[in-house]
Amino acid sequence: MALLTGSKKIKTAVFISGTGSNLQSLIKFSRQKKSPISIEMIISNNPKSKGLAFGKMYKIRKKVFDFKKQALAEKEILLNLKKNKINLICLAGFMKILSKNFILRFKGQILNIHPSLLPKYKGLNTHQKAIINKDEYSGCTVHFVDSKLDSGKIIIQKKVKIKNNDTPNSLAKKILTQEHKLYPKAILKISNL
Ligand code: GRF
Repeated sequence: MALLTGSKKIKTAVFISGTGSNLQSLIKFSRQKKSPISIEMIISNNPKSKGLAFGKMYKIRKKVFDFKKQALAEKEILLNLKKNKINLICLAGFMKILSKNFILRFKGQILNIHPSLLPKYKGLNTHQKAIINKDEYSGCTVHFVDSKLDSGKIIIQKKVKIKNNDTPNSLAKKILTQEHKLYPKAILKISNL
């Protein structure tokens, strides 16, 4: 991937809606020497996202955009990304679906993490679905974002065993721990392409 070559770090924006634990793991990763990315911006659609606090903690600029007017929000976001010379977007628990137009503007430069073994269980309530279907394994996936929900090219996946006594909550916790390791691995993988 051309955008990930060269000696300079890739200027990255992370989009969140909630807790931001994946954001924090990405920030920690970005501050390691071996990391190909530097996180320049945190973007959220939700002013109450707990993850916004990481902006202050790690001195990263953060901005909230109102997605009730999505077209306008996306236009402003694109301006901000351009201003900050962002060339990689990492969606990390971002609960809005970006428009086709937006995705096209960042074609091949948007990644997402999803808490299932895609193509199984796109969308919400993935842990509940895996348990109801009595799957032996679930897990997480990092993929490129294209215009269909949770459908872009898969970069990397991690399997997690489902135990008999797992609940959606306990499974979510186990998978989240793996997500924190998987997202940095995915970035290293595409940066070596
Ligand atoms: C993660 O499980 C992610 O895969 C999903 O939402 C959750 C976000 O968690 N899309 P956090 O905000 O990164 O803690």
